[in-house]
Amino acid sequence: MATRKRPARRSVPEGSAPEPRDESLDALRDAARDCKRCPLWKPATQTVFGEGPDDARVLVVGEQPGDREDLSGHPFVGPAGKLFDRALAELGIDRAGLYVTNAVKHFKFERRGKARLHKSPNASEQRACRLWLEGELARIRPAVVVCLGAIAARNVLGPAFRVTRQRGTWQELADGTRVFATVHPSAVLRARGGDEARRLAYRDFVADLALLLDL
Ligand code: URA
Repeated sequence: MATRKRPARRSVPEGSAPEPRDESLDALRDAARDCKRCPLWKPATQTVFGEGPDDARVLVVGEQPGDREDLSGHPFVGPAGKLFDRALAELGIDRAGLYVTNAVKHFKFERRGKARLHKSPNASEQRACRLWLEGELARIRPAVVVCLGAIAARNVLGPAFRVTRQRGTWQELADGTRVFATVHPSAVLRARGGDEARRLAYRDFVADLALLLDL
């Protein structure tokens, strides 16, 4: 089993986060490392910040890191990430050109024996974390944002957005940034109804991501 080694942290009062030392993405990432704006920092191993080129044209937002991401410190490296990678590869899109992040930067879980089971972040945890996503968007200024799942979509497009009804359709933010949402890759992995249901869910997921080929 992977060992859980917590990186050293600066001392920051509960409920707050350090100010970034400058306007750069690196400074934002450094500040987020010591974030205590909500209680999720405590049980988590580390902040999992976004990764990718700081001039990426496409910024992908997921929900929150999972178990593997929490241990490794990198977004989308577990089963959901592998499925996302497979879909991108099928479309001929190189993930290395994308900036990949999450709406919430700490893993929220409940223990069940040795397992750490994903729990959805609540509204106040999402609100507390929003400044990091806003900071990433402001610094990267992508042409396109891709939201994976309802939590990502609502953080970017607002609480009225419904992935079930509006997935795979172009939306626009006030500043002109183009956005679309699709389901979260974990929903594809968990699709009920056996192999055929999962095959169809995956096909629809890839069809939504194919909007990136419009660029
Ligand atoms: N699910 C997410 O939403 N993000 C990750 O980084 C991993 C799994």
